[in-house]
Amino acid sequence: MKHTDIKELFTNPDSFTGGEVTVCGWVRTWRDSKSISFIELNDGTCLKNLQLVFDKEKMSADSFKDALVVGAALKVEGNFISSERNGYEMTVSGVEVLGGCPQDYPLQKKHHTLEFLRTIPHLRPRTKYFEAVFAVRSRLSYAIHTYFQEHGYKYVHTPIITGSDCEGAGEMFRATTMPWKTDCKTEQEYFAQDFFGRRANLTVSGQLEGEMAATGLGKIYTFGPTFRAEHSNTTRHAAEFWQIEPEVCFADINDIIAIAEEFIKYIIKDVVDNCPDEIAYFSERAEKGLAEKLNSVITSDFVKLDYTDAIEILKKSGKEFKYPVEWGCDLQTGHERYLTEEHFKKPVFVVNYPADIKAFYMKQNPDGKTVAATDLLVPGIGEIIGCSEREVDLEKLKNAMIKRGMPLESYVEYLDLRKYGTVPHSGFGLGMERILMYVTGVQNIRDTLLFPRTVGSL
Ligand code: 4AD
Ligand code: MG
Repeated sequence: MKHTDIKELFTNPDSFTGGEVTVCGWVRTWRDSKSISFIELNDGTCLKNLQLVFDKEKMSADSFKDALVVGAALKVEGNFISSERNGYEMTVSGVEVLGGCPQDYPLQKKHHTLEFLRTIPHLRPRTKYFEAVFAVRSRLSYAIHTYFQEHGYKYVHTPIITGSDCEGAGEMFRATTMPWKTDCKTEQEYFAQDFFGRRANLTVSGQLEGEMAATGLGKIYTFGPTFRAEHSNTTRHAAEFWQIEPEVCFADINDIIAIAEEFIKYIIKDVVDNCPDEIAYFSERAEKGLAEKLNSVITSDFVKLDYTDAIEILKKSGKEFKYPVEWGCDLQTGHERYLTEEHFKKPVFVVNYPADIKAFYMKQNPDGKTVAATDLLVPGIGEIIGCSEREVDLEKLKNAMIKRGMPLESYVEYLDLRKYGTVPHSGFGLGMERILMYVTGVQNIRDTLLFPRTVGSL
């Protein structure tokens, strides 16, 4: 269908002004006066609507009455002109209704609550809010790829169905073709009959396979869906979320922290530079001061704080936390938010966590208690990155696995990496939805995914 994107009209108005153009889109709103009717048309290519002007002296009202319907899909011809009111608008000469829209269309009002829009995920991309969310999500993805591609990383596609458990937290979905009822007497018998002849899961992380790729390709990143069957019904947890996981050989914990900081600043700057309308919109609709926040993140240094010092700060804060603070405890949301929102007021890398609360693969520090791991915490959200140097000493790694009751025979290939030409290497995982929340000010992870999957909701 020959037509011009509305974004193109607004980007290069001079090459269209005064000329005939054809545009397509959906009616966001319309209004009527005695001699003129107006339609705000949006085609999804940019946040701005194109105002269509119908002059009743030149066109009979009957010829366009079916177009004056919220939600209707139109193809419109007319003259693109500059206007004092709007910058630019279109004087319509002909209109074709591509798809009519009956009165029960749920998006009749200008502003609906986000809770209501969650009940109609198939329609919410037609609202300004979600058009902006998905525009930023798309640009952020592009920036992520650009950063890694320009820095010599190879994009690898790690499997989604896996037999191993990367994080060891026992929160995995099973992949099975078995009927719900069987005659199996034991678990072994059951899994032996299943598609793979063994238990299979949806991956919680591409890291282990990412390490295998990196110890050949040098620097890799993954960018794909990961799954967690956690029963965490919070605004920051989804059962299906996208994760970006670089893995870098010949890099220790300090190297990877520097990479993570440079990377986060790069992708935020890219969005600030390339999505000005969306950021301005979210500054109004989602988070006051968003633009200033993002600019200050790009230009200031992130804090690097030892876990042990973090515990001291929390203890001295005089705050009553829901979960008490003691050395050895995992930092809870309340603790993370105090550190990053109240104490430092900027992103904080908490480094050297107790080994007992972290995953088996993390490098054990000489103190025998902590691991070379860090979480990046940001105001408003808490953890957005989980990061570590990997344990490369075969014996130490095996011991950490045995201590956690892991079956070594399922990790033979992973252990091989430490046997054959082992090298210092480090990596991190960034949650796509969490960074998107941070960049837009969107408060609920359910509003960053096209079709959010959370406990009890599919
Ligand atoms: O801290 P996590 O569990 O780390 C890993 O999976 C490592 N294997 C990463 C690595 O070193 N390659 O998860 C990484 C990030 C978190 O910081 C968070 O941003 C996001 O993934 N995340 C979730 N996002 C949404 N919903 C959930 N249920 C999430 N769980 C983790
Ligand atoms: Mg984590």
